Amino acid sequence: MELDQAIRTRRSERHFSDEPVPREVVEALIAEASWAPSAGNRQPWRVAALEPGAARPLVDALEPKAWEILYPTLREVIARDPGVLGQQLSGRELTDATLSFVAREIYLKGAPWLLVIHFPRPSALERGKVIATTAALLPHRVATRRSVREKIELALFMAQHANVAMRTDFLADVGSVAGFMYGLTLAAAARGVASCVQYSWALVADEVRATLGLPAGDEVLGAIALGWPDPNADKALAGRVSARKPVAVTWYGADGAHEPGPVRPE
Ligand SMILES: Cc1cc2nc3c(=O)[nH]c(=O)nc-3n(C[C@H](O)[C@H](O)[C@H](O)COP(=O)(O)O)c2cc1C
Repeated sequence: MELDQAIRTRRSERHFSDEPVPREVVEALIAEASWAPSAGNRQPWRVAALEPGAARPLVDALEPKAWEILYPTLREVIARDPGVLGQQLSGRELTDATLSFVAREIYLKGAPWLLVIHFPRPSALERGKVIATTAALLPHRVATRRSVREKIELALFMAQHANVAMRTDFLADVGSVAGFMYGLTLAAAARGVASCVQYSWALVADEVRATLGLPAGDEVLGAIALGWPDPNADKALAGRVSARKPVAVTWYGADGAHEPGPVRPE
């Protein structure tokens, strides 16, 4: 399958066939996803690959929390914009729609693999390295400033920079891992494997870490469910739910002028 076709036809599938995807295929998808770009080429992604059925304890942990957290939020979203489900809803229909929407988020129907995606938060050692580098550079940089005031300003700026660097490193790692996840879903789509990125597992990050024995300092960004597509899934509904909005783009010219020019999905 061509890349543009994989990009356009990939949809989040929550229902899978009962035939499991072989482990070799899952390995191939992970290997392909690892070509994603990453900040500083740190490749921070880590994968806990749960074969079909192995996620049962996690599903049990997620279920009560997901209802508690997702239900009120989703009900409000659907009530405010009933069109979000592709149809106008009211009263009882709204409740039913929200219930089934939340249920879809929690249950993985069929025989999916669950790839839990986690990454290490910067360790005390790495934080120490940033602070030590800043401290080592400080006398040299401060010496380049003449007045005491400028020296103090620069010292303050550098101290602050150490903080900012640590925060942006974290954001960059989130971005890197998100790229890895999207790449994996595209590699899956290209092979006819259905997938769904599920942030909801982050709601039970503590339970996920404890059940899978992940390092306590690791961030759980979510999981990707993988399986063969359920031939009986309602494709029309999936298409309506994942409609695309125009992308808000502002175009900046070399002359300094800028203007909005949204890009519409084809
Ligand atoms: C970061 C992220 C988190 C998501 N979390 C969930 C989730 O918890 N449960 C779920 O069923 N779908 C989840 N999705 C899938 C989105 O609902 C889906 O991508 C979106 O509705 C667009 O539909 P499409 O992927 O079929 O084009 C998530 C997607 C992303 C990128």
